[in-house]
Amino acid sequence: MNKLMLIVLVSLGLFSCGGGGGSATPSNSVSSVIVSSLSSSSSSSSVIPVLKDLAEFPIGMEVSAADQTRSIFINKTQLPTIKTHFDSLVAGVIMKMSFLHPEEFKYHYTDADNLASFAAENNMILHGHTLIWHWDSQIPRWMKNYTGNWQTMLDDHVTQITTHFAGKVVSWDVVNEAIDQESKSGYRESIFYQKLGAKYIENAFVAARKADPSAVLYYNDYNIEASQKKLDLMLAMLDDFKARGIPVDGVGFQMHTNIYDPSIEQIQASFKAVADRGYIVRISEMDVTVNRYNAPYLTSILMQEQKNRYKSIIKAYLAAVPKAQRGGITFWGLVDGESWVNEIDPNYRDWPLLFNDDYSLKPAFLGVAEALREQ
Ligand code: XIL
Repeated sequence: MNKLMLIVLVSLGLFSCGGGGGSATPSNSVSSVIVSSLSSSSSSSSVIPVLKDLAEFPIGMEVSAADQTRSIFINKTQLPTIKTHFDSLVAGVIMKMSFLHPEEFKYHYTDADNLASFAAENNMILHGHTLIWHWDSQIPRWMKNYTGNWQTMLDDHVTQITTHFAGKVVSWDVVNEAIDQESKSGYRESIFYQKLGAKYIENAFVAARKADPSAVLYYNDYNIEASQKKLDLMLAMLDDFKARGIPVDGVGFQMHTNIYDPSIEQIQASFKAVADRGYIVRISEMDVTVNRYNAPYLTSILMQEQKNRYKSIIKAYLAAVPKAQRGGITFWGLVDGESWVNEIDPNYRDWPLLFNDDYSLKPAFLGVAEALREQ
């Protein structure tokens, strides 16, 4: 199946299963790495691979939009790189709960609609992230204080949003990060769980499928490739859903990972466990941190390890997930200095992405290209 077919099938809903700050390395030396390692396979030494052309599935980028920091509508210097390499977009912030649904009876669609138009104008698909997520600052204040019928209210939230974006958003992270292997129940004891128990999860999928039958519906989580316990909890949930016809089409592995662990074998087995059950598998938020031991800058050894890690994870994905079940790979940010991992702690700095701050390519980019090219 070629990429166009995949995108068309995904957008038609026919492709479903289940129940229903920059591097310290000078950028030109990075470029020359790429140029020289490409020269063996290319007649022109200046050819740079175009990521989206190397894959039959969507290659995605997380972007900022509206008036947010690093918005694609404000910082336009990032656009050539995004348009060259990616054919799928996801909003890092502006399609989360508090942004789209700021008051009980008020939805804010303008900014996300602008992003959807931008995607369509540039032949990109838009993935929706996310209808339900526990992150405190992303739950609207009115919702935290809500005293009415939580099930009706959440169903309505999902229904309104998926209805509005039908035809503009091809796939949704319906529920994000609902499993917690440390909790007694196995579920994250978020406000949604406290109000409704685990039932809120399946209800969200049912409401989303009803409102937009053509959208591909994902359960999305982190560390499912790193914690066997968490993976098993998720699989048990999905097996139960499948037995009862709850419409989950795919699983997003966030893949916020690092160069050290878990093993590639574990990552590959985790992809396979999900793929073997017939689900579409996406790598939904990929970044690979390198700085566990507080390096003051990105050393060439770390850069090389990062390249190898990107390459081997993507190869594991390709080995474990049959072509027809590949939902794509999305990277969580473009340049290192703007990665969310550098937002968290001012004393911690990392370089987890594919591009330096001046948009020059890192070896990590080449690792991705090599993995895709070998498929
Ligand atoms: C992050 C964004 O990148 C940040 O800009 C924001 O401040 C917090 O959320 N898992 C997810 C994403 O599913 O939504 C998170 O995105 C990163 C972790």
